[in-house]
Amino acid sequence: MFEKVRRYSIGLRRLHWLMAMLILLVYPAIEQRGLFQRGTPERAAMMQTHFWLGLSVLFFIAWRVAARLRNGTPPIHPALPIWQALPAGLLHLLLYAFLIVMPILGLLTAWTDGKTLYLPFSHIALPALMAPDPALAERLESLHGGIGEFFYWVIGLHVLAALYHHFIRRDDTLRRMM
Ligand code: HEM
Ligand code: HEM
Repeated sequence: MFEKVRRYSIGLRRLHWLMAMLILLVYPAIEQRGLFQRGTPERAAMMQTHFWLGLSVLFFIAWRVAARLRNGTPPIHPALPIWQALPAGLLHLLLYAFLIVMPILGLLTAWTDGKTLYLPFSHIALPALMAPDPALAERLESLHGGIGEFFYWVIGLHVLAALYHHFIRRDDTLRRMM
C-alpha cells in the first residue's frame, strides 16, 4: 500500500543541505590555495574563505544538534534490518562529530600557527585566544588535515549509501531529506 513519506523537519532538511554545500566549498577553498603564491591577496582571501566557511559550520551545527534532539528522525519505509540501521546510525554520529570537531581543530590550528582571522570584507582582526606555538600548530594541522582527508571517504560512503537507498533498495531514505 502507498504510504505518505514522513520527512525530516523542515529546519533539519534545510540545515542538512546548507551544511552539505558549506562542506563542498570549504574543501576547495583550502585545497586549491596553491593556485596563488604565498603572500598574494588572492591566497589570503582563499584562506579567509576557508576559515569563515568552516566557522559557519560550527555556528549551524549547534542549531542543528538542538533541532535534531527536539525532532528525532522519521521512520524509513520499508524499515531497515538492524544490521543496516546500526552502521547507518554510527555513520551519522561520525558525520556529526566531524562537523563539530573539524572547525574547532581548524580554529586551534590557525591560532597556534599565528594566522589571523579577519571579519569578512574588513581589516578587523579577531583576537586569538592562543599564543603561536609552531610545534603544536604542526601537530594540530596534521590532525585537522588528516581527518579532512579521511572524511572524503566517509562523506563519499554517505552519498553512495543515499544513492543505494534511492535507486537500488528503493526506499524513502532520500525523500525524507528532500
Ligand atoms: C568543516 C570544517 C573544515 C574542514 C572540512 C576543513 C578541512 C581542511 C583540510 C582538508 C585542510 C588540509 C589542506 C591541505 O593540507 O592541503 C585544512 C587546513 C587548514 N584549515 Fe581547515 N577545515 C575546516 C575548518 C577550518 C576552520 C574553521 C579553520 C580556522 C578558523 C581552519 C583552518 C585551517 C588551517 C589554518 C589549515 C592549514 C592551512 C595551511 O597552513 O596552509 N579550518 N582544513
Ligand atoms: C550530495 C550529498 C549528500 C546526500 C545525497 C545526502 C543524503 C542524506 C540522506 C538521504 C540522509 C538521511 C539518512 C537517514 O535518515 O538514514 C542524510 C543524513 C545525514 N547527512 Fe547527508 N547527504 C549528503 C551530504 C552530506 C554531507 C556533506 C554531510 C556532512 C559532512 C552530511 C551529513 C549528514 C548527517 C549528519 C545526517 C544524519 C541526519 C540525522 O539523523 O539527523 N550529509 N544525508
